[in-house]
Amino acid sequence: MGLLQLGVSQSWWQLSMPPKDISTNGHLIDHLWNYTTMLCIFYFILVCIGLFGFSFLYSRKRNKTPYYTYGNKKKHLLVTAIIGAAVFLTIDLNITRISNNDLLNQFWKWPDPKTEKVMRVEVMAQQWMWSFRYAGPDQEFNTADDVVTNNDLRVPVNTKVLFHLTSKDVIHSFFVPNVRLKVDTIPGRVTRVWWEVNTPGKYDIACAEMCGTHHYLMKAQLTVLTEEDFNRWLATSEQLALNTNDPDDKNLAWGWKWEN
Ligand code: CUA
Repeated sequence: MGLLQLGVSQSWWQLSMPPKDISTNGHLIDHLWNYTTMLCIFYFILVCIGLFGFSFLYSRKRNKTPYYTYGNKKKHLLVTAIIGAAVFLTIDLNITRISNNDLLNQFWKWPDPKTEKVMRVEVMAQQWMWSFRYAGPDQEFNTADDVVTNNDLRVPVNTKVLFHLTSKDVIHSFFVPNVRLKVDTIPGRVTRVWWEVNTPGKYDIACAEMCGTHHYLMKAQLTVLTEEDFNRWLATSEQLALNTNDPDDKNLAWGWKWEN
């Protein structure tokens, strides 16, 4: 496919931009990304100035007699150490500090279904699809009234959604670019992630872990609905589940008991 076709009506600048952030916490990730990129550009320019500046200042034309140095004088060592420390402090240590704060203050502030309104979803990954499970009218997971969908995740807008995820076979990674979230799904273990999204629409869900031949095909669609639309869809699906789910169907019972 030609690159021009790929772009359709988007400019190269637009193509290089991340997808629209539809979440309450996504800006934290964007900030960290921008901060790291800006600092890397800053140091890159500094290095270029040194590289080309000194090549110019100490060219053969300007310095007929060469001056040999091993760069091991105290002054040299000190300058090198200061530059190294500056990079370490302003980039490494600082992004560790920022990301730690983000984790503690936001991403690991797990919403509690007992005390606040939280939509709970179980996610099963397998080669090569995503399955989603809603508790149904009885609010219990892995019962016959559960709503189960494949590659089709629907959530309400402006509501906290808590996901518990696992995998049937190998490690996959649940990746939702528009929400800036990515979490591994691991066989034999339940991982979790939560979000609150603020813009109705359709978005991509991808697998971000090389998981086999059709890894690249392992995608699902996220549909963010208004609360009314979501409730209507859930009610219809619950009714459908009650009518059609076979309690003896082992394939349908891939869920598990929810534990906070
Ligand atoms: Cu699942 Cu890649």
